[in-house]
Amino acid sequence: MQELDGKVAVVTGAGSGIGEGIVRAAAAAGMKVVVADIDLAKAQAVAADLGENALAYQVDVASLASVEGLRDATLERFGVVHLLCNNAGVWIGALMHDADIKDWQYLINVNLYGVIHGVKAFLPLLVAQGEGHIVNTASMGGLISGPPEGLYTTTKFAVVGLSEALLMEVAEKGVGVSVLCPGLVNTNLITQSFAVRPDELDSGIDHQQVAPDVASGISPLLVGEQVMDAVREGGFYVITHDDYRDVIAMRHDGILAALDDHARRYGSTSGKVV
Ligand SMILES: NC(=O)c1ccc[n+]([C@@H]2O[C@H](COP(=O)([O-])OP(=O)(O)OC[C@H]3O[C@@H](n4cnc5c(N)ncnc54)[C@H](O)[C@@H]3O)[C@@H](O)[C@H]2O)c1
Repeated sequence: MQELDGKVAVVTGAGSGIGEGIVRAAAAAGMKVVVADIDLAKAQAVAADLGENALAYQVDVASLASVEGLRDATLERFGVVHLLCNNAGVWIGALMHDADIKDWQYLINVNLYGVIHGVKAFLPLLVAQGEGHIVNTASMGGLISGPPEGLYTTTKFAVVGLSEALLMEVAEKGVGVSVLCPGLVNTNLITQSFAVRPDELDSGIDHQQVAPDVASGISPLLVGEQVMDAVREGGFYVITHDDYRDVIAMRHDGILAALDDHARRYGSTSGKVV
């Protein structure tokens, strides 16, 4: 989507951090924006700063009905949607051996169902109009994994897989797709994930001792600008850090080595009926 001026962007989790960076970059590119967040006060503060072409909206991305409400409110205010950024997400740095099932449910509900709900509610509109772009926020933890990221990385790998399939599904329909895979970004992720956690999904376990040092990360505004570049240019993987190249190469080399080992031990399966 090369021309952004005058178009409409919806960004979830836009009251803070990376979502705020994206929505500010979208507004700077001339877009009308919906600043959507479960924390209405934060969304309102960002929207107020952006002026009359910004709408603040309270959404819980874990609820399909709530995301459908976001879509309807966007259409009521602006009449159309061009860009959807499924960005809202939360973190729990739990080790799998002591994580409660509520820890899993909280992360899956927000990080994975949040993206699914966005796709479900908005994609038919974008396909019908033959124009649009969806950006899903995954993480470098969607490409590589390791403790204490077991729960988080489960959701983020799923977002990468969903996005790759979506890219191929809508490539001929005028809809672009990007998946944002940041390394550390200086946001409120660790504290805000705790603050907005629903009581019924509070396991009562304090996993914060294994939280990453997000304060040492890059600026969310920089990430927002990189997302806008990807939307304009049709870039798929939005990579904000190159520090992890060796780890990604090691992971992929391990998969290729397993394929080669299989062929060596059992013979090639290509062309065989198995
Ligand atoms: N900060 C990092 O280092 C980093 C790295 C990789 C990926 N990410 C991802 O970036 C995304 C944004 O996180 P951030 O780092 O900007 O954190 P943040 O906490 O600063 O911003 C996330 C926003 O999402 C909102 N939110 C949380 N649950 C919600 C829900 N159920 N419905 C709607 N809004 C909800 C929060 O209120 C918050 O305003 C997340 O998906 C996160 O997993 C962050």
